[in-house]
Amino acid sequence: MLVAAGALAFTALLLVYIYYKDAHRYWERRGVATFEPRFPFGNVFTIVFRKNSINDKVCELYRTMKAAGHRYAGLYFFSRKVLVILDPQLVKCVLSKDFSYFNDRGIHYDEINDPLSAHLFSLSGGKWKTLRTKLTPAFTAGKTKFMFEPMLHCTEQMATVIGEQLAISSTVEIKDILARFTTDVIGCCAFGIDCNSLSNPDAEFRRMGRRAFTQTPMDTLKMVVIRSFPQLAKIFQLGVFAKSVSDFFQSVVEDTVRYRKDNSVERNDFLQLLMQMMSKEGAEALTMNEAAAQAFIFFLAGFETTSTTISFALMEMSMNPTIRNQARSELLRVLEEHDNKITYETVSDLRYMESIVLESLRKYPPAPVFLRKCTKSYKIPDSDVIIEEGLSVLIPAMALHMDPEYHPDPEIFDPNRFANKLKDYAYIPFGDGPRICIGMRFAMVLAKLALAVILQRFDFELSAKTKLPLEMEKKGIVLAPIGGIWLEFSAA
Ligand code: HEM
Repeated sequence: MLVAAGALAFTALLLVYIYYKDAHRYWERRGVATFEPRFPFGNVFTIVFRKNSINDKVCELYRTMKAAGHRYAGLYFFSRKVLVILDPQLVKCVLSKDFSYFNDRGIHYDEINDPLSAHLFSLSGGKWKTLRTKLTPAFTAGKTKFMFEPMLHCTEQMATVIGEQLAISSTVEIKDILARFTTDVIGCCAFGIDCNSLSNPDAEFRRMGRRAFTQTPMDTLKMVVIRSFPQLAKIFQLGVFAKSVSDFFQSVVEDTVRYRKDNSVERNDFLQLLMQMMSKEGAEALTMNEAAAQAFIFFLAGFETTSTTISFALMEMSMNPTIRNQARSELLRVLEEHDNKITYETVSDLRYMESIVLESLRKYPPAPVFLRKCTKSYKIPDSDVIIEEGLSVLIPAMALHMDPEYHPDPEIFDPNRFANKLKDYAYIPFGDGPRICIGMRFAMVLAKLALAVILQRFDFELSAKTKLPLEMEKKGIVLAPIGGIWLEFSAA
C-alpha cells in the first residue's frame, strides 16, 4: 500500500517536472532570448523570495538583452510565458498601431458573482470599448475643472494637517499624509462622500483602501484558483477582492446614490456623472453595479499612483534647492497674475511645476511595468516570431525611462529635459494608445495643485530619517519606498 502510494507520488512529481521542463523550453524553441529558467519558478525565484521585485527583474532583462542587440525577450513566471518588449518602436505597435491584437489586459473579472471586478481596467473587447466611450466625457478638461473645488478643499485640509504635525515636530513623513489626501480627494470626487482620512488616519475608507492593496496568504491562494481554474472560481463564487472590501464599496455607492436621489442633491463630481449615465435610456445606461465598479477602480487606480508621484516630486525638490527655488519663483509670478488665488487656471499656468511632475513620473513611474494580452496571433514586424493568442506581453516603462540612450544621465532629476522632444514611446508613465490612463489629466492637475499649495505655505528639506538610496518595496507592482519619505518642514 505504502509502496503504491509512494510510486503514485513519484509519478505525479515526475509528470509535473516534465511539464515544467517542457514549458520552460518555449522561448528557446521560438528563438527568443531569455534568462535560464529554474524549476518550477522559471525566472521568478528571487521575486517569490522577495530578494527583488518584478520590476528589478524586468530592468535586469532589459539591460542584458538590449546590450545583446535584442528587441524583445522572454520571461517565465512559473510556467506562464511573458514576452517583454525592449524596443520603443515595438511598444508603439503593441499599445497603439496594432492595438486590435492587444486590447486586453488578461485580468480576471466576473460580472455576476463579483460585480466590482468588472471595471474599466479589467474589461476587454467590445465591453471595454463601450464603457470607455461612455466614461471618456467624465475626464475632459472641462469636467476636471468642474471638480477643482473639491480638490482644492482637500488640498487645504492636507496643508493644515502638515501644519499641525509641524507644531509637534518639524520632521514629517509625507507619503502617508499624501495617501490619505488622495484617498479623500478621490473618495470625494468618485464616491461623493467625505472620507475624513486626513483627520482620522483610521477612517474606514482608508482601511478598506489599504486592505484592497494588501494580499494575505489566503488572497494569494484564491488568486491561484481564479487564474488557473476560472470555472471552479465561479462555482465557489470566489471574488478578486475580499468580501468586506466589495461589500463596503458597493454599499457606499448605493447609499450615496439613494441619498442624492431622495434629497435632490447635485454635486460637481464623478458620481454625479455616473448617475447621469445611470438615468439614460436603453443600452447607453449604466447599471448600479457598473457604476459602483467604476467608482471603485477610479479610487484604486488613482489614489496610490497620484500620492507616490507627489511624494517623489517633493523628495527630489527637497534635495535640489535650485529646482525648489525655480518652482517657487514661478509660483509667485503666476499667483500674481491670478490675483494671488489658486484656481484651475493658476495651476494650468505652472509650466515648470508640470515638468517637475513629469520628471517624477519618469524617474519613479508608479506603474513601472504593465501588461497586455495578445487577443489574436501576431507576427512581430521584421522577424519570424509569432506572438500566440493568449500570451502576455509586458511593457517595461521604468526600464525605458532609465535608458541613457533615450534619457541622458537618467539618475539625475532634471525637469528641463521636457523642454526637448523625447523619443516616441520611451516615456510612458500613463501608458499609451486607446487604453492610456483615463485619469491622466485629473492626476496631473491634482499633483500640481498639491505641490503648489505645499510650496506656498512651507519650506522643506530632506530629513536624515529618509534612508538613501531609497529601497523600493519588493512585493506588488506599484512603486513604493520602504520606510517612507521624511522631510524637515518650516513655515515659508
Ligand atoms: C500619477 C497618477 C497615475 C498614473 C501614473 C497612472 C498610470 C496608469 C497606467 C500606466 C495605466 C495603464 C495604461 C496602459 O495600459 O496603456 C493606467 C490605466 C488606468 N488608469 Fe491610471 N494612473 C494614474 C492616475 C489615475 C487616476 C487619478 C485615475 C482615476 C481617477 C486612473 C484611472 C485609470 C483607469 C480607469 C485605467 C484603465 C483605463 C482603460 O483600460 O481603459 N488613473 N493608469
